[in-house]
Amino acid sequence: MNQQIPDITAEALARQLTTKAIGRSLLALDCTESTNLTAAELAPVSNHGLVVVADHQTGGRGRNGRAWFSPPQRNLYFSILLKPTCAPSLVPQLSIVAALSMHTALLSLLPELPVAVKWPNDIWIDGRKACGILCTMSALGNATEYAVLGLGLNVNTALEELPPELRDTATSLRIASGHPCDRCHVLATFLNTFEQDFTQWLAAGSLEPFMERWNQASLLDGHPVTAEHGHDTIAGTACGITPQGQLRLETNGTITLISAGDVARLRL
Ligand code: BTN
Repeated sequence: MNQQIPDITAEALARQLTTKAIGRSLLALDCTESTNLTAAELAPVSNHGLVVVADHQTGGRGRNGRAWFSPPQRNLYFSILLKPTCAPSLVPQLSIVAALSMHTALLSLLPELPVAVKWPNDIWIDGRKACGILCTMSALGNATEYAVLGLGLNVNTALEELPPELRDTATSLRIASGHPCDRCHVLATFLNTFEQDFTQWLAAGSLEPFMERWNQASLLDGHPVTAEHGHDTIAGTACGITPQGQLRLETNGTITLISAGDVARLRL
C-alpha cells in the first residue's frame, strides 16, 4: 500500500498543530476501506489521539448503514482514536462536540460562509451537507476502551464531480466559497479546536458548556421539523438540545426528546 498523501504529511500537520495529543501521531494513507475501521484495528496498539487520514476510501461508511462518497485527491476522510476516561453512555456526545469544533474551525477559515450544525452531527452550508460524523466505540463493562470519531468533509469536490444523487443535497468548501482549500490546513485547524473542546467536555461530563454554542450554530432551532421517534415520525419545532445531546422537539406545548434518527426541516 502506498502510504502517502502529498499534501497531508506528519511534518506538514505537526507544523500547524497546537495540540498535546490529538494528531501528534498520524497515519496518512493513500487508500483504505474506511479510516474508522483502520483506527479501530489499530486501537489495541495505539495511543489516545492517533489520527488516521486517507486520500481515498473504498468503503467509506456513513450513519444508518449509508455509504460515504470518498473520491481521491479532493476531500478529508479521517478518524481520531480517543481513549476517554468516561462512561460508555457518554461517548455518543462526542460527535456533537466534534460537530461544534468543525463549525468553529470552518468559520475561522471561511467567515463569510453560512455554516451551521444540523442535529445530531452534520455540518451544512447554504442548505446542503458538507460534513458528516460517525462515532463508533468499544466498551468493557462500564469502562470505555476506545472511541473512533470519523469525519468526512467535502473540501475540494466540484459540483460536477458529485454523483447525481448528491448534487441537490451536498456541497463542498470549494463549491460554497468559490475557491480550493488546503486540506492539511483545514485538518490542523479542526484538530486544534477539537482538542480544546474534547478537554472541556471530558471535564464537564456533559454537553452543558456547549449549549450556547449549539444554539448559535444550529440550523434547526426555532424551525418546524419532522423527526423519527421509535417507529413513528413526529412533527414539531426544534428547540435546542439537552446536556445529553437529545434533540428537544416542541409539539403543542409538549417537549419530546429525540435520541437518534434523521431529522428534516419542513418547508412551509
Ligand atoms: C454521516 O453519515 O453523515 C457520517 C459520515 C462519516 C464519514 C466519515 S469519512 C471518515 C470516516 N470513515 C468512514 O468510513 N466514515 C467516516
